[in-house]
Amino acid sequence: MGLTMGAKRMLDVVILAAGKGSRMNSSLPKVLHTIAGKPMLHHVLDSVNALAQDALQKLVIVGFGAEQVKASAKPYHCQYVHQEQQLGTGHAVQQALPRLRPDALVLILYADVPLIKTESLEGLLTCASAANSLGLMTVVVPDPSGYGRVIRNSDGDVIAIVEEKDATDEQKQITEVNTGIMAVPANKLAQWLPQLSNDNAQGEYYLTDVIAQARATNCAINVYQVGSPDEVEGVNSRHQQARLERLYQRRQADELLHLGVYLADPNRFDCRGSLTVGRDVEIDINVIIEGQVKLGDRVKIGPNCHIKDTTIGCDSEIKANSLLEGAAVSEACVIGPFARLRPGTVMHQGAKIGNFVEVKNADIGANSKVNHLSYVGDCDMGADVNIGAGTITCNYDGVNKFRTSIGDNVFVGSNSALVAPVMLGSNATVGAGSVVTQNVNSNDLTVARARQRTITGWQRPTKQPK
Ligand code: UD1
Ligand code: CA
Repeated sequence: MGLTMGAKRMLDVVILAAGKGSRMNSSLPKVLHTIAGKPMLHHVLDSVNALAQDALQKLVIVGFGAEQVKASAKPYHCQYVHQEQQLGTGHAVQQALPRLRPDALVLILYADVPLIKTESLEGLLTCASAANSLGLMTVVVPDPSGYGRVIRNSDGDVIAIVEEKDATDEQKQITEVNTGIMAVPANKLAQWLPQLSNDNAQGEYYLTDVIAQARATNCAINVYQVGSPDEVEGVNSRHQQARLERLYQRRQADELLHLGVYLADPNRFDCRGSLTVGRDVEIDINVIIEGQVKLGDRVKIGPNCHIKDTTIGCDSEIKANSLLEGAAVSEACVIGPFARLRPGTVMHQGAKIGNFVEVKNADIGANSKVNHLSYVGDCDMGADVNIGAGTITCNYDGVNKFRTSIGDNVFVGSNSALVAPVMLGSNATVGAGSVVTQNVNSNDLTVARARQRTITGWQRPTKQPK
């Protein structure tokens, strides 16, 4: 076959994900461990999906925790190949042979090498685009221990890969190592893999032995060397996972700095999702962003805030230690310190939510204030409302949820309980300490508490001397 003019060769991507990852010391399959809140396997699949390639088929080799791995990757529409026993990387790819399209180029990836970039994959594929050639991704590392070494002859041509455990002392000095990632024509794999032997130090079928086979059959071995070892570092332990997490977070922080965001400390910022920012956004230390978050121009986030799936409008400020999830915050709002916005919270322009206030599934009108120690749930609140300290919307009778409706310019005195379903008309006033169970009409004052009784000159009981 070869290349058709202008069209890319069909691509079969094989992702090795069968290993248990014993050194993680965890019951979760290794490839489901996360970097920035996303399973490592998903990172690899996202890099694959970003390839400019049409006729692409994704095969994931699963073994340990196969059902869990398949369930997790469901949105990616992969095919799965079971490798019951993990007899080595060559054996793993061999399991996929029946599914490979004979004319395809096969890109082999490791689900525990999560930070691989799409542009590097593209570079590798270009290396393997000529007929009778393969592409091998290598990297030069300061400390090559643990990796397969790339062996070159005196002409500089790659002739083999030798695993650390099989390497001579001289070979162990080599600092160019195998990343594990390669691009090999399917028909070559079909020819070479069945010939692999496990006669080596680990008794495994090594995928890396195909390099020597390529050399022996005059298939060109083209090397694509990546610039930074970080990108191709594998995760075998919690230490490596933690290292890659920091690397990844620092990469994201640097991107934000580049976009003009002020980060009080780029080493104390975590984004586990995607963040869109306007101009002159300021983010203090220890902020965690999760899911899809959007910050408008001049938004300020104080220290220790956790913000998830939330949009925040221009000039709004989130003060220290606030937790926002599934909220839509308009412009010029002030939230916190110590506020909690739960899903379904909508805040209109200039609204304020203060300390120790919890809001859920509630619409807070423009310039309305809930400043202290309150719970507002299942509530529609108009504009310019003032909710006194300690006010609670009693929205739940143990079975059903009910809504509270509050008109514009209502004033609720401190320590009131609004027992839903209940409506307060616009301009209504509720006296402090009220338990409001009936609707209040517009412009009325309601006071629902025991009337104060005073007894003049009251003598307190006194203790009798013994
Ligand atoms: C492998 C390479 C080594 C390379 C290194 C880069 C081989 C023989 N060695 O070594 O040259 O420098 O990666 O990180 O390929 N897996 C399966 N089924 C198996 C065996 C492994 O799915 O039967 C999966 C593992 O889950 C893992 C990946 O393949 O995700 C790599 O296997 P691992 O045993 O970690 O290989 P290394 O010893 O790191
Ligand atoms: Ca490994």
